[in-house]
Amino acid sequence: MEKMGRKKKIGVLTSGGDAPGMNAAIRGVTRTAIYNGLEVVGIRQGYQGLITSDFINLESSSVSDIIQRGGTILKTARCEEFRTPEGRAKAFNNLKQAQIDGVVVIGGDGSFTGARIFNEEYDLPFVGIPGTIDNDIYGTDYTIGYDTALNTVVQAVDKIRDTASAHNRMFFVEVMGAEAGFIALYSGIATGAEAIIIPETRGEARDLKAFIESGNIRKKSSNLIIVAEGDEEGGAFAIAEKVKCDFTNCDIRVSVLGHLQRGGSPTATDRVNASRLGHAAVEALLDDQKSVMVGIANDEIVLVPFRKAIKLHKDVDRNLVELAKILSL
Ligand code: F6P
Repeated sequence: MEKMGRKKKIGVLTSGGDAPGMNAAIRGVTRTAIYNGLEVVGIRQGYQGLITSDFINLESSSVSDIIQRGGTILKTARCEEFRTPEGRAKAFNNLKQAQIDGVVVIGGDGSFTGARIFNEEYDLPFVGIPGTIDNDIYGTDYTIGYDTALNTVVQAVDKIRDTASAHNRMFFVEVMGAEAGFIALYSGIATGAEAIIIPETRGEARDLKAFIESGNIRKKSSNLIIVAEGDEEGGAFAIAEKVKCDFTNCDIRVSVLGHLQRGGSPTATDRVNASRLGHAAVEALLDDQKSVMVGIANDEIVLVPFRKAIKLHKDVDRNLVELAKILSL
């Protein structure tokens, strides 16, 4: 059923690193808002656009033909000025002048930190949608872009496996994830990696030689070690360098997958979940929520206060860490 509430016009922005599915979320926000009789303003370049009034009106047709596209039609940025009280004051004045009375922020925990501080200072509600390939936000099982990035990594690692097997090589493949190991752990299991090195197992597996050997390295024609970029031992190049004298019989190569993990057409899962979250964020604003993130837990939409989403740590599933070890024998 349509809801009008007190709100007349809302803004939507994407902030931090882009993630495939952000466009589907922008579409979800825009069309749900229009359905409910609201005007919608796209804020370009993340928080920077709030400070410079980089606003565009979004009609239903503005978000046609974008659900399948990676990146973000609104552009994104990491904005230092919004971290300052002066920057946030400018943002508030610009929002007031444009008569925007609620904002949907699609981004990661850094973006939610800015939104939370803003909502402590100003009575203009911000609601967040988790958008990051890292899947590292507490309170939600899912973040927009993670599924696409994971599938991109799996495809790339499968290709590396082909050439690794052909040459009997050992490959260290570095994947993204910032401080978290979700992409590494899940892609490692999905590609049958011999070892997976993630920040969450810090302290558990720091005899790198023994850890890598536990994947029965010498008996296999190819060996893949997935390294999360945030691991304290360093990236894939650093780890390969540390262990190369322990595996003198192996021909070692390193591959850093990099930003190709952030691009591409979103998977069906990312499109559907981003659409659900876009819809839920507008509903939350209409219900007078503020300073909360909409997330998905056990396949249900949930509301999580920014305070929790930012402060609490989301851990990887330890059963999967054990499973990966067993299956690499
Ligand atoms: O947070 C998303 C992410 O892609 C991380 O996985 C990665 O560490 C970081 O962003 C890269 O950021 P940038 O695009 O600024 O290099």
